[in-house]
Amino acid sequence: MKVLLITSECAPFAKVGGLGDMVAGLAKSLRQLGHDARIVLPLYSFIDRKKFGLHIVGSHCVHMGGNIEHWVGLHETQMDGSVPVWFVEYESYFGRLGLYDGAQGHYTDNAYRYAMLSKAALQICKDRQWIPQIMHAHDWPSALVPVFLKTWDRVLSPLSETASVLTIHNIGYQGVYPPDVLPYIGVSGDHFHPGALEDHGKINLLKAGINYADAITTVSPTHAQEILQPEGGMGMAPFLNNRRADLAGILNGADYSHWDPATDPLLPAQYTAGNLAGKAACKTVLQAQLGLAERSDLPVFGIVSRFATQKGFTLLREALPAALQQMQFQLVVLGNGDTDTENYFRWLQQTNPGRVGAFLGFNNELSHLIEAGSDFFLMPSLYEPCGLSQIYALRYGTLPIVRATGGLDDTVINYNEATGTGTGFKFILPTAQALFDTMGWAVSTWFDRPQHIAKLRQQAMAQNFSWENSATQYVQTYQHAIQVKRATLKG
Ligand code: ADP
Ligand code: GLC
Repeated sequence: MKVLLITSECAPFAKVGGLGDMVAGLAKSLRQLGHDARIVLPLYSFIDRKKFGLHIVGSHCVHMGGNIEHWVGLHETQMDGSVPVWFVEYESYFGRLGLYDGAQGHYTDNAYRYAMLSKAALQICKDRQWIPQIMHAHDWPSALVPVFLKTWDRVLSPLSETASVLTIHNIGYQGVYPPDVLPYIGVSGDHFHPGALEDHGKINLLKAGINYADAITTVSPTHAQEILQPEGGMGMAPFLNNRRADLAGILNGADYSHWDPATDPLLPAQYTAGNLAGKAACKTVLQAQLGLAERSDLPVFGIVSRFATQKGFTLLREALPAALQQMQFQLVVLGNGDTDTENYFRWLQQTNPGRVGAFLGFNNELSHLIEAGSDFFLMPSLYEPCGLSQIYALRYGTLPIVRATGGLDDTVINYNEATGTGTGFKFILPTAQALFDTMGWAVSTWFDRPQHIAKLRQQAMAQNFSWENSATQYVQTYQHAIQVKRATLKG
């Protein structure tokens, strides 16, 4: 099968969160299953062309509405030596320091930038005569791909039989913009109604994708149920319920070629479940790097996260001062985003010298070190479509402390104090108290039942979330989408 994944993020080139990891891992795994999977993403100016071996392979004329034409450059490289990746070069849209935001917040022309990326993806396929059976869109940035396939390329196009799949990674970001972008998108006003692109007088890109894709997925089975409910659907539940027959929840995999402590080149020491000496060494390096007292007897809690409401920072900000007062532990934090949360962690670090270490920014190497050097991984998300950080934590023998929601609930098995079974610590209520109590439960287990910590660690490290199984499920979804498309063409 020929599959084109269209995305705004792809690790290691451009990544803000798990979307970048997911697209890279899925494409790699599809190729291992024998499919011709390729990726297209913007050539952001911060992407290191030399380091990643990008070379120019052509230029394409992208036609938008109102007879607007953009000439874009196309660059190519191989990701991890196996996946062809195409980069769309268009300086005035992508020659910026951020992906979605700059110093002044969200780029106001994001709808234009990603509409053009989506349209470019179709043009590239046609010009290069590489006709995929599936175009796989990811979140709002590429959610117009299904729309274009059913409008601009509905008939008399080499892509008229190409089916589309939309994966919803984060329903909290829908890409809602003023309707003035409609002429640029270039579909007629007939599509500006609630069953298509319109959302309370605006354009909702994710909604458009939901209404036009041949199949829809989200990134865990539990989250697929959650988004069908009014609260979890964040306004999309009615439209997702209309598409219920074409909706699947497929758990993300982890790319263990990048995230395994036995081989991870970013760690100061490697380790396995059978020999955890390297983990202790990573803990010492982590403590030194972030200015913590070098104490092997104290548990280290780690956080690696975008600072977004989704991730439960309201709970953390309330629970942490009391927890630091009443419990024995250290805390390391890596993240950025919300300014208030950044300032909070600056303050927490200043007021808890030697006990709290914070790095406010994006740092891939440090993210690996925290996964390895911590004892517990904190992820009290209010909602979590899948979550990759906790999946990595499991493999690194760092026990996740999570709220039982979405993919967190699907991937972490709660500790059973009677038997010592489980892989982490879970709570249900989205309250600071529940988080505080669960941190206390973990800390008391650390001091009172160390044999259980050792057992939980072994169980966590033995979990296997490799991509193969999930990629096979995507192939099934692709086949479903092709059937849906065929039925539409006949109808
Ligand atoms: P989300 O996609 O919602 O951010 P995930 O858990 O799926 O959550 O994925 C987060 C990914 O982003 C992980 O690979 C994590 O290591 C990475 N990450 C998040 N914040 C940072 C940061 N400040 N520096 C480096 N990596 C980060
Ligand atoms: C999103 C979600 C996260 C998921 C990631 C990759 O950003 O917040 O839960 O793991 O996408 O699918």
